[in-house]
Amino acid sequence: MEIVMKKILIVQGGGRPKGNTAQLVQAFAEGAKDAGHTVETVSLLKQEVKGCLGCNACRYGKPCIQKDSFNEMVPRILEADLIVFASPLYFWTVSSKIKAFIERFYCIAQEDPNPPLGRYEKYPVKDSALLMTSADNFFWTFEQAASYYQFAVVNYIGFHDRGMLLAGGCGDTNGKPQIQQTDWLEKAYAFGKKIYEE
Ligand SMILES: Cc1cc2nc3c(=O)[nH]c(=O)nc-3n(C[C@H](O)[C@H](O)[C@H](O)COP(=O)(O)O)c2cc1C
Repeated sequence: MEIVMKKILIVQGGGRPKGNTAQLVQAFAEGAKDAGHTVETVSLLKQEVKGCLGCNACRYGKPCIQKDSFNEMVPRILEADLIVFASPLYFWTVSSKIKAFIERFYCIAQEDPNPPLGRYEKYPVKDSALLMTSADNFFWTFEQAASYYQFAVVNYIGFHDRGMLLAGGCGDTNGKPQIQQTDWLEKAYAFGKKIYEE
């Protein structure tokens, strides 16, 4: 079995600093590191990334005009083979922090003279994955989050999906994180370890 070493960038889109999502990220990262990959995590709790303003300065060769952490993240995004989006489920979709981070991909789009139907520009080609936690655990719990990821990240931006780990039933935020009482941390470790296993 051959494993290719990859550069993985995990974007932790909020949740409590030691909460369910942070623990899920940690377990995934450990699995991926044990498989030999390089893993870097950026936390949108520590580094602020605001939503796009639609000023279009980036369409005229300028970096994003917003003075937050996104511009310094751009080289890390461009270097990464795999970008992992991690978020708690907030009001049935990804957190506003992950949404804002994805909006800012607007400024790394490149001109595409011949885009496919429904697309207007092209993006650097990367692999991607989605890690999420929630309180509920119904079959519809992650429907909107998974759909948003599929539409925006996979279909539109064009990233190649390596999978989603949707950890339902981790308890609400009115108390201690409960993910340790589930088997999601073992699953996240295994997901990280096998993400590039053929
Ligand atoms: C503002 C807010 C909105 C939430 N919305 C949902 C929701 O729509 N569905 C759900 O199942 N859980 C919801 N939850 C619960 C969290 O998704 C769940 O507790 C998650 O594991 C918290 O992650 P953390 O421990 O990393 O902070 C919400 C929690 C908060 C604070």
